[in-house]
Amino acid sequence: MLGRHVLGMTDFDADELRSVLSLAERMKSGDDTHPYLTGTDLGLLFHVPSTRTRVSFQVAAAQLGGRSYTYGPEELRLANNETVEDTAGVLSRYLSALVVRWYDMADYGAGHRRLHTMAEHSSIPVINALDDEEHPCQVLADLLTLRERFGDELPRKRVVYTWAYSSRQKTPGVLHSSLLAAALLGHHVTFAHPPGFELDERYVKEAQTLAGASGARLDFVEDMAEAVRGSDAVYVQSWKSLRLPGQHEWQARTRLADRWRVTEPVMALAAPGAPFLDCMPSNRGEEMDAEVKDGPRSLIFDQAENRLHAQKALLAQVIGSAPSTASASAD
Ligand code: CP
Repeated sequence: MLGRHVLGMTDFDADELRSVLSLAERMKSGDDTHPYLTGTDLGLLFHVPSTRTRVSFQVAAAQLGGRSYTYGPEELRLANNETVEDTAGVLSRYLSALVVRWYDMADYGAGHRRLHTMAEHSSIPVINALDDEEHPCQVLADLLTLRERFGDELPRKRVVYTWAYSSRQKTPGVLHSSLLAAALLGHHVTFAHPPGFELDERYVKEAQTLAGASGARLDFVEDMAEAVRGSDAVYVQSWKSLRLPGQHEWQARTRLADRWRVTEPVMALAAPGAPFLDCMPSNRGEEMDAEVKDGPRSLIFDQAENRLHAQKALLAQVIGSAPSTASASAD
């Protein structure tokens, strides 16, 4: 994967995805402590706030022997209308790779287009740290967390993803990337949402094509209880706690809040001991009850920690010297 842009999940093939996850596991366990980023400089350009992504990338670079530099939206000449193209060309002359978060809630797709323009005009790898459409780095950490829980059984487990927002109103990045990852790896996933809150059909079609080759099973249902019943893990994508423009959308979500929240009775429908996942940020009493988020089944802080290990492995393979070798271990 050396030199590769990572803008979305399909920038990996299944073996590359497994290879990153296997390296992340070796790094987390301490079996691989090689300073893969010695002498490298990582730029972090965040147009939107971030806690997990930003800090975990900073720490990842430092732990691998590299340096990192973080920029906000007002700190580069982009704020004075210097073009994305020129910015990309200039930063390519200083940095080893660039991690970019770019989305615009008022203009769905604009962040995604700008990120892709930046990659086209960069001679260094560009990594998507969340745009309007995908969040591959979060999904690497989620997969690592699920592998830790299920091991080799993961491809035979069913994971439910639930949300209640429309792709035209807020970034559905985690869901699109989760869908594509499951399709690449041959997993069984159920996507549950209220009517009218469907994912972008381009991603659904792409995933269905990939699933045809991998044997993945992708289900879409409009009833949370039906989705969760008998499932092996329940994943909530934040949809209520992130404040949005658009009064109509907000009122629609507020009407859904009570019947589209993951509660203890909802979790009781899942398989015994099924874990709860949530990429955060999220608010107790909105997408889920506090008893679920803070309960014994919750893996939310493992997920957050795994951002670090997964991104270390990704950086090591994209700009470092780590070999990209597929592992036969669990998906
Ligand atoms: N999950 C996630 O991407 O968190 P941040 O927005 O804090 O980076």
